Amino acid sequence: MPGIRTALFVALQAIALAIFLQRASKMTTTAPTPDKPWADAPCPLVKTPQFATKKTDIFTLGATHMAHIHNAILRGYNSIYQQAPHVTHEDKPEFIGYAQAWFRFVKSHHDDEELELFPKVEEVLGTKGIWDETHKEHESFLAGLSQFNDYLSQLPEPFDFNGTELRRIMSSFQDAFNHHFHSEISTIAAFADLPSAPTPSSPEADRAAAIFKAWGKKTVTKAGYTDVVPFFLLNLDTTYEDGTWATWPPMPAPIRWGLVNIAGAYHWGWWKFASCDSAGKPRALYALQFPENK
Ligand SMILES: *[C@@H]1O[C@H](CO)[C@@H](O)[C@H](O)[C@H]1NC(C)=O
Repeated sequence: MPGIRTALFVALQAIALAIFLQRASKMTTTAPTPDKPWADAPCPLVKTPQFATKKTDIFTLGATHMAHIHNAILRGYNSIYQQAPHVTHEDKPEFIGYAQAWFRFVKSHHDDEELELFPKVEEVLGTKGIWDETHKEHESFLAGLSQFNDYLSQLPEPFDFNGTELRRIMSSFQDAFNHHFHSEISTIAAFADLPSAPTPSSPEADRAAAIFKAWGKKTVTKAGYTDVVPFFLLNLDTTYEDGTWATWPPMPAPIRWGLVNIAGAYHWGWWKFASCDSAGKPRALYALQFPENK
């Protein structure tokens, strides 16, 4: 009997995957057109310190990896902001799923920084108070972020979703949010100039580098393979900064494919709202093809 059940389970997964792939290929990805907004506004994206300064110290590298994560979060914000008023009635449940995946991404990213990354970096640098400003920035948008999720989770039913109202809530914390997601990158890059910064190639430098690396990997995967991971990868533009980061994060191509296409199959309906296709190329925002929905 368990044999049949397993076979049935596998068959259902295969069918779900086949439907997803068929849908995904039908969802022909057209490049963004200049006359329509894309996911690089209203919040501008972060320039990575490594691209801007060509420095290669551990803090420039750590800040650059953080910038990639922040840019996926900012593209996520922008993709929700731009599409919210144009979502069709039928697409509302899936758009809510997409927007709540973004919320879980931001929330877990924030909690992980406060609980793990900040204390560890503080310890390695031996300097207290280096995150004081960052901590204040976090506080400045948390209430608005909660309102965002409360609105979505307390809708009597998905069809009551009002994109104009969601945008109003987003606008209320946009400036603080945008400021933080840029400012933290320069804060981290500037740690290289602290008197207590580890000297290059010292064991302390290696330890600090390992902290950023391990944390960066964990912060996305721990948040959820079926929602936050596909959200992240489908809002990671491989063409950004002249394609410099096309192979970031480093992982074998079949793993990346599986994370997008198989782990992504659980909520396949959500991902049509993402800013990039499964190859990481920017694509036109899905709901903007329905400009009459306001
Ligand atoms: C949608 O929200 C906006 C902004 O809060 C409000 O002005 C409008 O009346 C709402 N529309 C509906 C149909 O409830």
